[in-house]
Amino acid sequence: MSTTRDVAVLVGSLRKESFSRKMAKAMIGLAPAPLALEIVEIGDLPLFNQDFEADPPPASREFKERIAAADAVLFVTPEYNRSVPGALKNAIDVASRPYGKSAWSGKPGAILSLSPGAVGGFGANHHLRQSLVFLEVPAMTQPEAYIGNCASLFDDKGALVSDSTRSFLDKYLQAFAQWIERNRKG
Ligand SMILES: Cc1cc2nc3c(=O)[nH]c(=O)nc-3n(C[C@H](O)[C@H](O)[C@H](O)COP(=O)(O)O)c2cc1C
Repeated sequence: MSTTRDVAVLVGSLRKESFSRKMAKAMIGLAPAPLALEIVEIGDLPLFNQDFEADPPPASREFKERIAAADAVLFVTPEYNRSVPGALKNAIDVASRPYGKSAWSGKPGAILSLSPGAVGGFGANHHLRQSLVFLEVPAMTQPEAYIGNCASLFDDKGALVSDSTRSFLDKYLQAFAQWIERNRKG
C-alpha cells in the first residue's frame, strides 16, 4: 500500500468564480489515492515586507508552516499580463524567506495554467517555473498543462463537464503521483 502524500494546492486567482479554483476543486475530486490535495489559501496573506521576515505576521507564519508540512505543491493559476498573478508571487515570496529557510525547498511540484484564451497561460506557467528552479522545487516536466478556453469546461455550478479534460487530468495527476515519489527528498 502506498503512503498518502499531502499536496498543498495554491490557486493563483482570488476571485469567487475563478476558473482556477474550479479547476483545483475538480483536481481534488480526481486525485488518485496516494494524493491528498488541499487548497491552501493565499488571499489574506500580507504583502511580503523584508523588514518583518525574521518575525513575520501570524498569517504569513502559518502559511509558511503549512507549506513546510506539505509533501508536494500544486500550482493552479491563470496568467496575468503574461506572468504570474501578484497574489501568487507574494505567497511564494512569503514562504521563501528568510534566506536559507525557505519552506519550498525540495518539495516536488506541478503547474497547471489556464486561460479563457487559446494560449492557456503559457507565460505564467514558465515564469513560475523560473522561480521554482531557484527555490529547488522540481516542477513536473511532462505532461505539461496549459489549459486554453477554460470558460467552456465548467457548468453553472462550477463542475467540470469536459470528458477530454477529465481524462487529461487523470493522466496528469497519475504522473504527478509518480513524480512526487521519484523526486521527494528522504
Ligand atoms: C490583470 C489581468 C491580466 C490578465 N492577463 C492575461 C494574460 O496575460 N493572458 C491571458 O490568457 N489572460 C489574461 N487575463 C484574463 C484571465 O485569464 C481571466 O480573467 C481568467 O478568468 C482569470 O482566471 P480566474 O478565472 O481563475 O480568475 C488577465 C486578467 C486580468 C484580471
